[in-house]
Amino acid sequence: MEDAPLKNIAVFASGRGSNFSAIIRAVKKGKIKANLSLLISDNPKAGAIARAKRAGVKMALVKREDFSSKSDFEKRIIQHLQDNKIELVILAGFMRVLGPDLIQTFNQRILNIHPAILPSFKGAQGIKDAFDYGVKVTGVTIHFVDAEMDHGPIVLQAQVLVEENDTLESLEKKIHKIEHKLYPQAIRLFLEGKLRVEGRKVKITP
Ligand code: GAR
Repeated sequence: MEDAPLKNIAVFASGRGSNFSAIIRAVKKGKIKANLSLLISDNPKAGAIARAKRAGVKMALVKREDFSSKSDFEKRIIQHLQDNKIELVILAGFMRVLGPDLIQTFNQRILNIHPAILPSFKGAQGIKDAFDYGVKVTGVTIHFVDAEMDHGPIVLQAQVLVEENDTLESLEKKIHKIEHKLYPQAIRLFLEGKLRVEGRKVKITP
């Protein structure tokens, strides 16, 4: 029997790109069976762009300030996604709340990673907010994206203990280490067709 053709996936990143690199590694090792077809970035200074160049991943820079409306900005992004026949969008530190254009076009085909146990500590600095709050347990969440920030149905979560001697820096390291394992797992489940969204719940086929 012939294998099904590989799906094309795109990563969106605004910053450093360590999750993007983890995804590149997982694709190279065959842990994620897909074509990593495109990186979309909104930030010319994003470390992710250099990582894409090194790995030979096609990159599109789409800057919000080049468009008069968010809708036009997203339409350009959608054009890139459609031109590249993208079937799954992976937000990896893409620091923008997506609007209805993208969310409707890629309904239940956009994943996000957040460095805390949602619904706690949403926003741009989840690790610091949890650390400053004094929690003893925090972690990582992978979820489908909906119209609200860090909000859609949860696919996977993993916990990270905050120990007595942890600093913000040591906690960040622990969280990123978990992120780099958990995101490829969630992407793999999606690509294997094992995720089914039922309202707020995501059922995972064993
Ligand atoms: C990651 O820790 C990710 O969870 C976070 O941005 C970081 C990107 O790091 N996302 C959010 O906070 C979303 N609200 P990276 O560029 O090294 O992958």
